[in-house]
Order: sequence, then C-alpha cells, then structure tokens
Amino acid sequence: MPDDLLFQELTKLKEQIHFHNYRYHVLDAPIISDAEYDKMTIRLREIEAQHPEWVTPDSPTRRMMGQVADKFTKVQHPGAILSLANAFNVEDVRAWYERILKLDSRVAASGFVLEPKIDGLSVVLHYRDGLFSLGATRGDGEIGEDITANLRTVKAIPLRIPVGGESGTAPAYLAVRGEAFINIKDFETLNQRLEEAGEKTYLNPRNTAAGSLRQLDPAITARRPLTLLVYQVVSIEGATSPATQWELLATLRKLGFPVTPDAELYPDLESMLKACERWLQDRDRFPFEVDGVVIKLNDLRLAEELGVVGKDPRGAIALKFPAREVTTKLLNIGVNVGRTGVLTPYAMLEPVEVGGVVVKQATLHNFDYIAEKDIRIGDRVLLKRAGDVIPYVIGPVVDARSGSETSFTPPKTCPACGQEVEHYEGEVAWYCVNAACPAQLIRNLEHFVSRGAMDIVGMGIKIVEQLVEAGLLHDVADLYQLKMEDLLKLEGFAGKKAENLLDAIDASRTRPLARLITALGIRGVGEVMAADLAVAYQDMDHLGKATPLELQMMDGVGPNIAMAIVDWFSRPANQTILQKLKQSGVWPVKPAPASAAEGKLSGLTFVVTGTLPDFSRDGIKEWIQARGGKVTDSVSKNTSYLVAGESAGSKLDRARALGIPILDQAGLLALAGEQDA
Ligand code: IVH
Repeated sequence: MPDDLLFQELTKLKEQIHFHNYRYHVLDAPIISDAEYDKMTIRLREIEAQHPEWVTPDSPTRRMMGQVADKFTKVQHPGAILSLANAFNVEDVRAWYERILKLDSRVAASGFVLEPKIDGLSVVLHYRDGLFSLGATRGDGEIGEDITANLRTVKAIPLRIPVGGESGTAPAYLAVRGEAFINIKDFETLNQRLEEAGEKTYLNPRNTAAGSLRQLDPAITARRPLTLLVYQVVSIEGATSPATQWELLATLRKLGFPVTPDAELYPDLESMLKACERWLQDRDRFPFEVDGVVIKLNDLRLAEELGVVGKDPRGAIALKFPAREVTTKLLNIGVNVGRTGVLTPYAMLEPVEVGGVVVKQATLHNFDYIAEKDIRIGDRVLLKRAGDVIPYVIGPVVDARSGSETSFTPPKTCPACGQEVEHYEGEVAWYCVNAACPAQLIRNLEHFVSRGAMDIVGMGIKIVEQLVEAGLLHDVADLYQLKMEDLLKLEGFAGKKAENLLDAIDASRTRPLARLITALGIRGVGEVMAADLAVAYQDMDHLGKATPLELQMMDGVGPNIAMAIVDWFSRPANQTILQKLKQSGVWPVKPAPASAAEGKLSGLTFVVTGTLPDFSRDGIKEWIQARGGKVTDSVSKNTSYLVAGESAGSKLDRARALGIPILDQAGLLALAGEQDA
C-alpha cells in the first residue's frame, strides 16, 4: 500500500478509536463490540510498528483509556489500575512467555495462575481498619469515579473484613481490585421481568452491569442483581502483600472477599498451555460471561519487576476466546418457510466474524420479535453466536442510527408460493397453509433424508431443490419412485452420480421404524420420542390407530404431542404418503422382542458426551437402543449412566455433581456383557 494511503488509514483509525473509547469509557454506551475495537487497535499498532516516525503522543496506543465522566466525584487510585495485553491463540501465549523469559530467567520457575476473564467492569474497593470506605470505577486507570453508595448495595462486597466466622486479620489499609458483573441467569430473569412489565429489555449482562453501577440513585443499583469477584491487591498498609498470586487469592478469600473457585495453578509453560486448550473448549461452564482466560505469573514480585508496556503489565496476559457478540449492519430482512409452514424472518447481514466463523445470516425468531425490539433495516445490530446456538440478532444499537433506517412490514402472502398467510389465535407464528407449497416440501425432504432420519447419503439440499424444481418429487414417498432415466435428464447427473443416489435411496428402505417415525417430521416427535414410539407400536398402521389418551400413557408424551401425532395421521396427504411408502416396500416393523442378550440395557437411561473411540454419536445411540437402553440428551437424576468419551464437557461435570455413575466405552461394553472392562 502506498504511504499516503497508509497514513490516511492511520489517521482514520486513531479518530475512530478515540471516539469508541469515549463511547465505552465515558458514556457507557459502546456502539461496536470489543472484538471490532480490538481489531482496530491491532491494525493501528501494526501501522505504527511499520512507521515509528508516525507515532504521536496522542495516539490511542500511547494511552488506551478513556476520560473520566464528571457525574461522580473523581478518585485518585492508590496504584495504577492496569489493563492486559491480549493473546488470541496458544502461540501468542508462547511468544509472550519467550519474551519475558528473555528479560528474566526466573520466569521459568515462577509458575502460572489461570483465572476466568470475567466480562464485567473493573472496580477498586478500599478498606480502612477493615471497613469498606470507598469504591471506585476504573476510569482512566489513574483516576476513577466514586461509586461507593452504589457498590454498597452489591451484596457480594463485604462491608467489613474479615467477614464474621473467617479467620485472618484486616490490614490497616487495603485496596483490592475486582470485577463487577451480572450472572447470565440473573440477567435473563431481569429481562423477563422487564418484558412482563412492558419495559425495555437490556442487550447483554455487561452493559447492564455498567449502566447499573453508574446510576445516580443507588436504590436503582440495589435492584440489579450485581455481583463481584476480586483478584488483585492494589495497595496495602500494615501488612505485607502475599508473594504469589495463588496465596493472594487464598488470603483474599480468607478475609471474606468473593474469589473465583476456578483459579488453577500450573508449574510450567507446557502444563499451563494444555490447560488453556481445555479452557477454550469449556468456556460454557461458568455462570457468567467469560471472554477469555487471564494468565498470571504466580511470582508477584517478579511480575512487578518485569514492569509494564504502556498500560499492560508484562507479568500477565489475557488469552481471548473468539468473540460471541459483535455488531454489524442489518442489510435486509428475508423470510423462510419452514417444514410446518411457519414463516420465519431472518437477518441478512454485512458478513462478520463471530464465535470463530463468518456469519451472513441470523434468525430474527418471529415477526413480533422484530416489532418488540424495534429492529429496522439499515440498523447496526448486536449479533450473538454462542456454542451450538443458531446466530441471532439481540437487538438494534439505537444510538448508532442515522435516520435512514426503515421499518419492516411482514408479508401478507407466502414468499414461496404466494398464498395468503394465516395466523392462529394465541400463537405468534404466521403460517403458509398451502399443502403443496414447494418451500415446505423442500424442508420436509431435507429432514426426511437427513442423518438422524432416513440417512440418504449424498442427498443434500441442492439435490433436493433440483428434484423438486424438476417436478420429480411431490412428497417424501416419491423418493422411492425415482428412476434412472429421470435422473439422467437432470443437469450434472452423470451416470455414476445417478447410480449412487439411487443406491443410497435403496439402502434407506430398510431403516428401522424409529428412523421412519423421526423422518416423517411429526411436530414434537424427535429422535428420542420416535425410539420410544417404535418400541410401543408395531408399525405405522398401529401407531396411526393410537388414541390421544393411549399415547399420553407413555413417558414424555403430553397432550400437545399426543394431539400432534393424531393430527398428523388424520391428514389425507399424510395417509397418501403412508400408502405410497407401503407400496414401495418402505414399511419397517418393530424388531422382534429383545432376547436376553440384546436386552441387557433394558430399563436403563444413558446420556452420551464427548467422542468415543469406536462409535459415532448416532452409532452409539443405536447400539444402546438395540440393547433395550434409552438415550436422552441431558443429565438428570433419572440418568442411569453417563457415557463419557474424549473432551467431554459440562455434562460430565453435571453427572459428577449429581453422583451419576460414569462409564467409558469399555465400561459400557462390559455392562452390556459384550467385552471385558
Ligand atoms: S487482572 C494487572 N484478572 O480484564 C492486572 N483482569 O482486559 C490486570 N478482568 O481491565 C487485570 N477478569 O477489568 C484480571 N481475573 C481477572 C480478570 C480481569 C476480568 C478484566 C479487567 C481488566 C480487563 C483487561
């Protein structure tokens, strides 16, 4: 890039970072996510590294903090309230280690403490003769704001130390630093209450915590479910501060401060890095939002001697998790038609990376959601993608509006077939009730051929769409009438491809009853329920004759599911499908009653987590079910065994907490009498 363009980019970045700093630190109203902010800063640092002669004293990289808002009294901190440098992967952490090891060889023997990096707000708490005397925000790191009255309302903060019953003595003066935040569950409850009261809901726990602490009226703060964890001694008089971070956490705990129970101590780099990998995998185990893991040298004297770079201490680093919340532009709103005809709006977004993948679309749930959140086309929106959750739009960043945004009007007709849409009393959803709607047919077929259903290998959405468009499929049963000559006429279907597809369809004819029940997509009937139904009924004819009352006698079947099953069989279009399937020989019957050997797992309920050496997720399910066992998704007190493979996550913790016995693959085989443990 030519120098003048690069210089322009630098000037623009500096301006933007200053602006977003001000929004974040002074106004508590950021309009971009931390990840986007980090990205700008990294780019600015990059350019400045290439051209050191361009670095000016007012560059945000020389300062990296905001100004102090003036609605509260200013407080000088007793020591610098530092920030942390970021690492984005394990290699960055290794590089950090090499850097500081070069500066001081004692780094090799220091050991490390890992702590959750809580996505909250840094606060400093002062105690004189054991009494909570002052509480301040971080501010610019040197001067914060006096929010004592607000912090006093936070129940996690001890008003006197040591807290009754705890041992240890309070030093004459102590200033500690911690993170104030709101637990995810409490945040959800708060939003639910606000929604019920018809009030505006909050976007995320962090912004709510920040807003709550900077209320001028402490009574409002008191109603917010704020909490806190402490992790640092900023200043101490009348006692010496512990020599290691590990002891420091213990001392603070002893004095009665809330301290994370999740800190871990590692003797060397390799064991610490291994643990970091685990933290990256298992970030959901915390009850609060965690945006990374903080790695601290355990030797605090050494850390102190290593000094700081700008505002970042050399002795610690934050390994950031991929961001799960980012903001991006809502370009347009599209509408999908689902398997049951439900119209679902989705956001078309300016592509953005979130949770480690690039997202272009996200769900908007339903039309009421768009109206309630007042989401407009052209808005900057906050987007979330967490774990297995489908990306969704949390809401608009109202402050970022330019005035050119436009409201969205839900369609009156189905976007796929043009038929007028309908709405049922008491439901939020709008439906296309046209049984011949091509969009519904495509969704139905997609589900029918999927892995957990009839598992027609190689039949993806593209082929489904192509066959529907060519008029070869009018319902799922038509799959079994497909002929070679029909397929060969289609674009891209050379001999082998058509043959493979017909073979895959053929192979699916003999799938067991449970899979066919799953594949037909009856509302509320998933894989687990289908497996239960397949045990209780001999074939589709028998299931079709079941009464709602009879169905409700089964475990897990309530009135809604019972009605959905009966309703499905009462529809003529579905009866036609069943007849066609029967004529094509796709008519599984319940397997013969399990012999003693096969029924070894009867009456037992299993949950499977992690990766097993010799089974896929579906494979192990079928294996257990074939031996009479039941497989469910979540661990409860009714779980007989948890089967845990490699990198098992939170289910393993939950099973341990509930005292559920845990088996590995060999243990499971032994239980079924098929192999020694
Ligand atoms: S230590 C010198 N420990 O992360 C000490 N910070 O990105 C520097 N944070 O400003 C901070 N959890 O607000 C530390 N366990 C933890 C933390 C933590 C969250 C925040 C803190 C800091 C920011 C840096």
